[in-house]
Amino acid sequence: MKKGKKIYEGKAKIIYSTSDKNLVIQYFKDDATAFNNVKRTTIEGKGVLNNRISEHILSNLSQIGIQNHLVKRLNMREQVIKFVEIIPVEFIIRNVATGSLTKRLGIEDGTVLKEPLIEYCLKDDKLGDPLISEDHIYAFEWASKKEIEKIKKMIFRINDFMVGMFRGVGIKLIDFKLEFGRLKNNGKKDVILADEISPDTCRLWDSITDKKLDKDRFRKDLGDLIPAYTEVAKRLGILHEQSNVSAVNITKLSSVNKKRR
Ligand code: TMP
Repeated sequence: MKKGKKIYEGKAKIIYSTSDKNLVIQYFKDDATAFNNVKRTTIEGKGVLNNRISEHILSNLSQIGIQNHLVKRLNMREQVIKFVEIIPVEFIIRNVATGSLTKRLGIEDGTVLKEPLIEYCLKDDKLGDPLISEDHIYAFEWASKKEIEKIKKMIFRINDFMVGMFRGVGIKLIDFKLEFGRLKNNGKKDVILADEISPDTCRLWDSITDKKLDKDRFRKDLGDLIPAYTEVAKRLGILHEQSNVSAVNITKLSSVNKKRR
C-alpha cells in the first residue's frame, strides 16, 4: 500500500489517499485550535501522543464490538484507516456539565448529570459548528433515523466503556466528541465510528484533584499540555511509567521515525 496525495486537511489532521481505494492515511498534526480556529498554535509532540492514545482507545472499542475506521497505526504520526463518508454532525456526550453547556444554560460547572447527555452540532467550521436538534438532522437529511438510532446505541456503549476505562486509571471522563462515517459494504452503507478519540476531543479530569488533563489546558491557557497528555498515555499503559517523555523527546522520536520510512 503506497501513500498518495493529500485529500483533506482539517485543523488537527491530514488525510492522504493510498493505492487501495478503500483505505486512507490519517496524519496527526501538532496544530492546536480552539473556539473554531479563533485561537491557534503548534504544540510539538501533541500529534504523536494523540495518534497513540486514539489508537489505544479505538482498538479497545473494537474489541468490545464497536466497529470503527482504525486499521492499524503506521508510525508515530500516522494510521491507516478505512475510507468513510463522514456524517456532518459532531456528537457531544456529557457526563458532567462544563464548557459550552454551562455557559449556554447557566448550569453550575462540575454538575454531575443523572444520565449521559447527547448534543448534536453541525460539522461546519464556517458556521462555528452550531448546536442543532435531532429533528434538524432529519429535516436536512444529514443522517437517517435508522442511522441515528444505531449511533445513539453505539454512543452509550462507548461512553460506558470509556468511563470505566478512565475510572480504572484515576481519570474522570467529563465529556467528549465523536464522529461517525458511512462505510460502503456490498452496496449498502454501514455506520461506523471514525475520526479520533484523544485528549483533544475529550475532557479528562484527575479523579482526586480535578486537574485538567486535556485540551482545556490550551483553551484556558493553563500550560503544560504535553505533560498532561503524557500523563494520560502513561496511565493508560501506552507509555512506560519510567519514560520521561518531553516534547523534545517526542520530536526526536518522530524524526527518527521519518528517517526510517
Ligand atoms: P464544548 O463544551 O466546548 O461544547 O465541548 C464539549 C466536548 O467536545 C469537549 O470534550 C471538547 C469536545 N469538542 C471537540 O472535540 N471539538 C469541537 O469542535 C468542540 C466544540 C468540542
